[in-house]
Amino acid sequence: MSNFYCIFVKFYVTLEMRQIAPSILSADFAHLAEEVTRINASNAAYLHVDVMDGVFVPNISFGFPIMAALKQYSTKPLDVHLMITHPERYVERFCDAGAWSVGFHLEATDDPLPILQSIHAKGVRTCLTVNPDVDVQRLFPYLEQTDMVLLMSVFAGFGGQAFIPETLDRIRLVRQEIDRRKLPTLIQVDGGINATNAGSVFDAGADILVAGHAVFRTKDPVAAIERMLA
Ligand code: DX5
Ligand code: ZN
Repeated sequence: MSNFYCIFVKFYVTLEMRQIAPSILSADFAHLAEEVTRINASNAAYLHVDVMDGVFVPNISFGFPIMAALKQYSTKPLDVHLMITHPERYVERFCDAGAWSVGFHLEATDDPLPILQSIHAKGVRTCLTVNPDVDVQRLFPYLEQTDMVLLMSVFAGFGGQAFIPETLDRIRLVRQEIDRRKLPTLIQVDGGINATNAGSVFDAGADILVAGHAVFRTKDPVAAIERMLA
């Protein structure tokens, strides 16, 4: 990625604070094209794509064929969240499949740096992710090397879980460190987000909120996204 492109992307994203990324995991898979098309018409900034391998998390979601289908229908950038072991084996394929960003868990690797580098080498943004039981300070050495960090506000594996309130303090800690070092790194928060808690999660310092059930398990996903942005 050229320096100019890098600066442009970060500047653009920085201007667009308080963004929503609906998680397709909670959509009706029998009507995937319609579900994606509804999000296309919304103020969502991205479409969040949860990939689970049944090993890193006790659930299996989907892989490349669904990614290809989403790419075909989505006008929103695809924000891929890998909940898999050995992410280094797959990140490049997700980049080639059209991901806007590729995230993986810090717990899933001994050395995130080469993985971040191989995603960047494809011109794709990175998102270093941690579950709620991981000390957020473990992210600090990598804040310069990743475009985003993702703080899970539930344990990765399933949609529809309740937001863990302690996440707010974890967000504040990371926000403080990013601001202290004047970094453009964005903070994503994922799990149990809804219209009631979105405001306080943004206020704690999050830039991008992922929401599954609160968007797709409602009659009007477009209105649900508006309520979270209000
Ligand atoms: C959980 C996934 C989340 C999930 C969010 O492992 O990473 O993205 O789909 O769903 P809700 O918003 O329903 O908690
Ligand atoms: Zn996710």
